[in-house]
Amino acid sequence: MKLAVVGGGSTYTPELIDGFARLRDELPLTEIALVDPDRSRLELVAGLSRRMLARAGHGAKVVATTSVQEGVEGAQAVLFQLRVGGQAARNVDETLPTQCGCVGQETTGAGGLAKALRTVPVVLGLAEKVRRHAPEAWIVDFTNPVGIVTRALLDAGHRAIGLCNVAIGFQRRFAGHLGVEPSRVSLGHVGLNHLTWERSVAVDGVDVLPQLLAEHGRAIADDIGLPLELVTRLGVVPSYYLRYFYAHDLVVEEQRAKPSRAAEVAAMEAELLKLYADPAVDTKPALLEKRGGAFYSEAAVALIASLLGDRGDTQVVNVRNAGTLPFLPDEAVIEVPAVVGSAGAAPLPVPAVEPLYAGLIANVSAYESLALEAAVQGGADRVRNALLAHPLIGQEAVAGELTRLLLEANRAHLPWV
Ligand code: G6P
Ligand code: MN
Repeated sequence: MKLAVVGGGSTYTPELIDGFARLRDELPLTEIALVDPDRSRLELVAGLSRRMLARAGHGAKVVATTSVQEGVEGAQAVLFQLRVGGQAARNVDETLPTQCGCVGQETTGAGGLAKALRTVPVVLGLAEKVRRHAPEAWIVDFTNPVGIVTRALLDAGHRAIGLCNVAIGFQRRFAGHLGVEPSRVSLGHVGLNHLTWERSVAVDGVDVLPQLLAEHGRAIADDIGLPLELVTRLGVVPSYYLRYFYAHDLVVEEQRAKPSRAAEVAAMEAELLKLYADPAVDTKPALLEKRGGAFYSEAAVALIASLLGDRGDTQVVNVRNAGTLPFLPDEAVIEVPAVVGSAGAAPLPVPAVEPLYAGLIANVSAYESLALEAAVQGGADRVRNALLAHPLIGQEAVAGELTRLLLEANRAHLPWV
């Protein structure tokens, strides 16, 4: 079985390779094509990938190529994990909004919009090549902002599913607290990508969330960076991305006082690339664990194995709403548990969502559809309207100023500016 990774030169790739090696029985790969425009990075990452697979006794061939056509031809699944503009563009997403009193984050708020503007056209261009050269392949999208990018792919008629590691991260952490195998834990996960709540945590079908919070509330609240009192009052576990909403002004203050995550990651990447270049290194470096992508290989392997093997198990993915959340349009993309088989992912029914969460989900979903229009059609007014619709921005003057600043800073990536 051949798999292609677009953005294969990412420093994250060894995380994937490590998962492919460990989970080879689940996903028997014979060829992994790493596709990336950056040839020098590609060679370093491919070199380490080959050494890792050899050490693990895995026979898959690793092909490194700058040609999307060569990479995807014959592939049954194509993983998108790219970052248009790299950490430099991310740094702008994370720092520029704070000048206007807004959170600086690569997927949430104005930074997320800038990322969507840069990314959607590139991803759609790549997906056309997949359609042409590997028409049967599934596209698994890790590229952020995952909700908007997945919606763009689906609107253009691609066989695509969006994936994030937040849900699998909670599943693993909760399983650890409870002392059970992760496979026994299923989450009542609801919302949009990076805007989700765990409303139940079932072990063998029985909800144990109240006990989990009673016994491990402190650790869980610390993990997500929100007050224990809030988590206890809500009786649900918000993802750490909700901190950007529930503690917005506090986060802005913190962000103004310290280096951006992009700067931290850029420094880590320089170290990682040195390690990848060392022929003696043949395992995933521990430093990679300081990145946010824990368990993303597990999530990718499970999803691809179920799509290609028609397993019909339940996984948290980004799919069309199709009536699941009645307060959203059918075409919206949501992040919920879904049954995954060879026909794709079918969302499971979701118990009625309380207004406390439904209001924010509806608001951000509306923003996402405006953001997608802006990304596909361009135009400063569309950008400004998307910002006006975002619950973390909302004010006309701020939306105007951020539009001006973000378009100026992203000019090199936006042909219409
Ligand atoms: C989590 C999110 C990803 C995001 C990553 C960033 O894994 O789910 O969507 O890309 O964090 O991690 P980084 O180490 O680059 O800050
Ligand atoms: Mn994510």
